Amino acid sequence: MELKFGSIRVFIEENALDLGKRAMEVFAKVLGRGPVNIGLATGSSPVPLYDELINAYKAGKLDFSNMTTFNLDEYYPIKKSDNQSYDYFMKDKLFNHINVNMDKLNIPNGEAADPAEECKRYDDLINSIGGVDLQVLGIGLNGHIAFNEPAKTFSRGTNLIDLTPSTIEANSRFFSSYDEVPKRALTMGIKNIMQAKEILLIASGEAKADIIAQTIFGEITPEVPSSVLQLHQNVTFVLDKACGKKLV
Ligand code: GLP
Repeated sequence: MELKFGSIRVFIEENALDLGKRAMEVFAKVLGRGPVNIGLATGSSPVPLYDELINAYKAGKLDFSNMTTFNLDEYYPIKKSDNQSYDYFMKDKLFNHINVNMDKLNIPNGEAADPAEECKRYDDLINSIGGVDLQVLGIGLNGHIAFNEPAKTFSRGTNLIDLTPSTIEANSRFFSSYDEVPKRALTMGIKNIMQAKEILLIASGEAKADIIAQTIFGEITPEVPSSVLQLHQNVTFVLDKACGKKLV
């Protein structure tokens, strides 16, 4: 099912497989344009997309050699080799299975000695390309995008943030305990995300049905960071049925 709310186009798909296929179509259109800059996300939401990209690559339908990537965020501090790092996640879920050029992959460096310097380096990199061609996004239960948590103002560039207890709690499912979850992260800011020429947000599951409805219909406020997407000109949401149930 395809819906439109303002400038937000929404696809509601039957299951995770269809959701992955739909997201892959949106992604493939941009990838096919030649050398492209793509913003990537971690978390469980984009995994069906990554699975489909791998399938399409193996079937000889997609070529990633012209793709430069910019990941949204990374825990801080964290070793790249840590199996909970987003660096590890991206290799495991996508990069190791497709023909990416390893020199073209950018992720905020969770090992950087000086986080402020690392934020500046990453920000300069994004600004130097004038924003990515396509930004893939997930969404947190509280409306966070990347690691931009509810706040009094919208963030601009890449910054070091304190994770909220609810995000630490939500992400602790991947760690052996709450205490092991890093309490800070490096994240692209809202301005970096809004600079993307096109945005693809993927979400699934009933637990996110409320925040998705709030994102699309609610007040535009930094207390719900995802609500800022109402102001972007080219946004596609790909949802599963449970997640999209408040939109129909
Ligand atoms: C983390 C990531 C976000 C992601 C969110 C939702 O906090 N930093 O980029 O969107 O989790 O994760 P999931 O897709 O697993 O629900």
